[in-house]
Amino acid sequence: MSQASATAARPPASLGGAAIRFEGVSQSFVTADRVVDAIVDIDLDIAPGEFVALVGPSGCGKTTLLNLLAGLARPTEGSVTLDGRGVSGASGEVAYMLARDALYPWRTAIENVELGLQVRGVRRAERRELALDWLERVHLADFADAHVSELSQGMRQRIAIARTLSLSPRCILMDEPFAALDAQTRLLIQNEFLALWDELRSTVLFVTHDLDEAISLSDRVVLLGSRPGRLVRDIPVGLPRPRTVEQLGADPGWQALHDDLRAALRAEVSDARLAEAAPAEHGARGES
Ligand SMILES: Nc1ncnc2c1ncn2[C@@H]1O[C@H](COP(=O)(O)OP(=O)(O)OP(=O)(O)O)[C@@H](O)[C@H]1O
Ligand SMILES: [Mg+2]
Repeated sequence: MSQASATAARPPASLGGAAIRFEGVSQSFVTADRVVDAIVDIDLDIAPGEFVALVGPSGCGKTTLLNLLAGLARPTEGSVTLDGRGVSGASGEVAYMLARDALYPWRTAIENVELGLQVRGVRRAERRELALDWLERVHLADFADAHVSELSQGMRQRIAIARTLSLSPRCILMDEPFAALDAQTRLLIQNEFLALWDELRSTVLFVTHDLDEAISLSDRVVLLGSRPGRLVRDIPVGLPRPRTVEQLGADPGWQALHDDLRAALRAEVSDARLAEAAPAEHGARGES
């Protein structure tokens, strides 16, 4: 389906990815009775169009990093920039996709895809055409008028992918987006997502607890350690693209990467357990 009639409100797909930089970033949360140091002194550069997987034990600050990039919070220290510009508030250049599909149940499939375009001000006829095009790409054109309750979890997540990518975002933040799917559906959707991303080449920051997924999808795997979250490993993946996820298991480099990451993650998880006994939290007045 043609996209030629799109308005200036929609950026062309050829815009490509944004450069991301975290520089000396720390984030603390002040609660009623304590201060929690979520992440400390993170330096991380991500090149335009790079696909970076973020892994680490629960509570190490992965979602906190995404939220900073999405402009949902400001760092306590340091700076977060997109193409050299400070992130302040939500931006049309950044799309955020969560583990649960976050679709609106009172809207149909196509109305859910249209949502972001509507917020961006794309006219009705144009956004409908574009949404239908994206529904076709995720193989759900026949379900355009179905309500969310009539769709499986996998279908809902495809709708969420269509909604995210229809905005041609320069940066895509994904927080365990496929975690709720069964293994077969996850594999299918990972491959579909890789193929679609290959056309857009947005910069991706992808949080997952699944090391297979991290290695199979990304150009780089960044491991955060916990309590407080800090960057402990930054491992280039270097597997060829275009890829399909199942083809990679046979690659000799894949298993070595997997073993390396699993050992590093295991060390961090056991450190995190030890830290449970002496958490990196201090009193609200800052005493340790
Ligand atoms: N709004 C908040 N107020 C207080 N503490 C917070 C807040 N958000 C996060 N934290 C704390 O910051 C730390 C990091 O949380 P975050 O959600 O970023 O971890 P995560 O790596 O995404 O964990 P998971 O893998 O379980 O999703 C945790 O100790 C958490 O309790
Ligand atoms: Mg999280």
